[in-house]
Amino acid sequence: MLREKVLTRERIDHVIATVAAEVNADLEGRDPVFIGVLKGAVYFFTALTSRLNRSVVVDFIQVSSYGATTESSGTVTLIKDVTVNIAGKDVYVVEDIVDTGLTLTDIVALLRARHPRSVQVVALLSKPARRRVEVPIDFVGLEIEDRFVVGFGLDFGERFRNLPEIWEYAPDGEDE
Ligand code: IMP
Repeated sequence: MLREKVLTRERIDHVIATVAAEVNADLEGRDPVFIGVLKGAVYFFTALTSRLNRSVVVDFIQVSSYGATTESSGTVTLIKDVTVNIAGKDVYVVEDIVDTGLTLTDIVALLRARHPRSVQVVALLSKPARRRVEVPIDFVGLEIEDRFVVGFGLDFGERFRNLPEIWEYAPDGEDE
């Protein structure tokens, strides 16, 4: 069930505006490719990239997700690869939330193997208490405590992504 509203839409917009300002300041002199991690990051990705004050290349990557559980399996499978050549480019990986860090570690390693000039990570949310591997997040919207959240792209078993706000979700009990 949806337990408690964690972030209002106004708060999300404010957080994204702040991150976008930081990313904009970083873009000087770069040849940027923004890579959104499907599906969760789509809402953040469009909000973020539409606030950038210059033209950037956009692409998407998809790896395996949790499925209908709130725990990570710890193994990541590539489902959809990027289609642009990132050699020599400045890559910004855009992720919805960093939990254990395992997904991002694998994605960054996979992208680095293609010899981009740089790889940076932009995450809307981070749960540092849950981290199992050290992964640098260059731009982070908000750090949150260890609770499972849905909405604004985040799902539980593919549901709730389209909620405009971010809610805490408790797997047991009746869905709303
Ligand atoms: P990690 O590999 O454990 O860091 O997990 C990252 C991925 O797990 C994210 O891209 C999300 O798809 C998913 N995830 C982690 N925490 C949550 C959450 O609280 N709600 C929904 N999805 C989550």
